[in-house]
Amino acid sequence: MPRGDGPLRSVRVFAPASVSNLGCGFDIFGLALERPGDEVVVRMAEGSGIVAVSVSGDGGRVPTDPERNAAALAVQGVLDRTGSEAGVGIEVRKGIPLASGLGGSAASAVAGAVAADALLGSGLDRTALLECAMIGERKGSGADHADNAAPSLAGGFVLVLPGRPPEMVALPTPGDLMVAIVHPAMEVETRRARTILGDTIPLEAGVEQWGNAAGLVAGLMRSDWDLIARCMRDAVAEPVRARLVPGFEQVRDSALAAGAVAAGLSGSGPTIFAICRGRKAAEAAALGMSGAFRDEVDVESDIVVSSVNPEGARILEWS
Ligand code: HSE
Repeated sequence: MPRGDGPLRSVRVFAPASVSNLGCGFDIFGLALERPGDEVVVRMAEGSGIVAVSVSGDGGRVPTDPERNAAALAVQGVLDRTGSEAGVGIEVRKGIPLASGLGGSAASAVAGAVAADALLGSGLDRTALLECAMIGERKGSGADHADNAAPSLAGGFVLVLPGRPPEMVALPTPGDLMVAIVHPAMEVETRRARTILGDTIPLEAGVEQWGNAAGLVAGLMRSDWDLIARCMRDAVAEPVRARLVPGFEQVRDSALAAGAVAAGLSGSGPTIFAICRGRKAAEAAALGMSGAFRDEVDVESDIVVSSVNPEGARILEWS
């Protein structure tokens, strides 16, 4: 959205939810959804630094302490990076359910970084914005991973190469690729879901995983659905994490039975994603998965059917 004339007083930004890992890409693959998403408003305020943080849509559970709030940490990252002494207030409007595996803290952090950058006119590039967002994300999961923040920021299906700075590589997706999402009424803390993985993996699992990661990239680049189906599998994290999500196997299998190309845990769960060819197939997979959650473990769920969001974070309002 174009900005008007005159000094800016506030900027409101939307950053979308994301599906990370996508089977074989633990911490390196993610894709942006059209919805849900978080909004962050950053306003000029009297004083210096972050002078106020408020949060809505979270049931009072997201900390407003600037040292513990993902959006505020990202805004602070922008202030530090640009050497700005400006005073700002931050309003976070949560649209992404907490501890859902849909990259909620990453989206808040991305929206905060983009809003602060626009408000201050600092013109940080995408890599710098990603690094600022990662400061916020790190607080939540206790680890450095940009596989939610990168797609939420840049949109699309992203390979993010670890390291400092992280490097984003946009991957193409077949035009008819649709994502079905089922979010059950459960929560999984990413920090815990990472702790149970330990530090080592068997060589055999490594070989399977890097074969699948390479095959998935080739499948996406060629729009080869058979290769995508064959490779979008997780030999490392999902087998360990499945026990955190009662009914996981049955729900995943119900998506495949309904015609999905691939399905698995979205990030650290409990949300389960299914990759499908076309909207009809995605709707069938979503209904199949929510029916399986109900039938197998008596849990209700929300469903979303989305195409890949090509844009990522966007400014909704300048004033
Ligand atoms: N790649 C991260 C993980 C994403 O699987 O722990 C967390 O949502």
